[in-house]
Amino acid sequence: MSRGSANGAATMNRHLQRLVGALAVLVAIGIGGVFVVTSGIYNVAANEQHLRPTFWLIQFALRRAVEHRAAGIEVPPLADERVVQRGLAHFRVHCVACHGAPGVAPQSFAFGMTPAPANLVDAAREWTPAELYWVIREGIKMTGMPAWQFHLADDDIWAVVAFMQRLPALSPAQYRSLPDVPVPAHAEAAASAAGPAPVDLPRAKQAIDHYLCLTCHRIPGLVGPHAPVGPSLEGIGARGVIAGRLPNTPANMQRLLREPHRIKPDGAMPDLGVSERDARDIAAYLATLK
Ligand code: HEC
Ligand code: HEC
Repeated sequence: MSRGSANGAATMNRHLQRLVGALAVLVAIGIGGVFVVTSGIYNVAANEQHLRPTFWLIQFALRRAVEHRAAGIEVPPLADERVVQRGLAHFRVHCVACHGAPGVAPQSFAFGMTPAPANLVDAAREWTPAELYWVIREGIKMTGMPAWQFHLADDDIWAVVAFMQRLPALSPAQYRSLPDVPVPAHAEAAASAAGPAPVDLPRAKQAIDHYLCLTCHRIPGLVGPHAPVGPSLEGIGARGVIAGRLPNTPANMQRLLREPHRIKPDGAMPDLGVSERDARDIAAYLATLK
């Protein structure tokens, strides 16, 4: 054997050893991961804070994700005093329970949440208006921060952002003295004046998730608990009759989704406040389940 090829073989050997070493480490990490997940050793309790590196990593990933997704969102004018007032009304009703306000503590249930809902007094300094809008509209997975997309019109979300921009400069006394503005009605009427939006099936899946349908029904094509509290909706699109008495037409399905108690007063399907548009989208999705 020549010296050159002996050297070559030795180099190959070293590479092979490194590769096997790296693979062994990966396998060990994999086995460790499987052990942590299956043994139950990982503590999911909300009254135990994350380890410092985990906490830091989650915060970092959250910030990066929001920055990335909020890039390119166009910010409407937010200085109008009426918009700020509307934002205040929504903030008091929808946000203070978890986040508190200047001089106001959150409700006691929020004390038990991990991650703890941040005090938002300074949020408008830490996040851009587009980022705040994105967080409020989309929510934050695995934190308890709800997505407000199906509950607040886009204008109202921007109004909340407008109010939040005033928060850093508001003293507790000033916050207390702000007028008690009633929450304006959901802006659905304005939306329907422009004609109904076209049916949107991807949005329908989000709506089904939002209205907690999967906490009671099996609904094919969606990830969730599929709990058997209500009947399975498998093949519902092909059924002749719904709720035991109504012909399965799009209009009847939308009525059932919006006013289940009108159709079956003693039924166990709760009235979930499904909007007209959301009922139309959800009914269209259910009709595809043949
Ligand atoms: C059910 C409790 C709850 C409600 C109600 C709620 N949030 Fe949150 N929110 C959270 C939790 C939990 C987090 C994640 C922890 C954190 O970062 O604050 C969060 C995060 C946020 C963040 C990111 C804060 C940061 O600096 O990390 C913003 C901004 C926010 N919420 C705004 C709002 C607004 C505005 C409303 C009202 C429309 C609202 N939240 C309603 C629980 C709630
Ligand atoms: C708290 C549990 C619960 C939630 C949440 C819920 N449902 Fe129901 N649903 C029921 C029950 C229970 C019934 C059976 C009604 C009865 O006869 O009492 C039902 C009936 C129905 C029916 C009629 C089924 C048939 O066989 O004719 C449809 C369709 C339906 N639900 C769709 C939905 C959709 C879509 C959502 C979300 C917007 C939803 N449900 C949310 C419990 C629930």
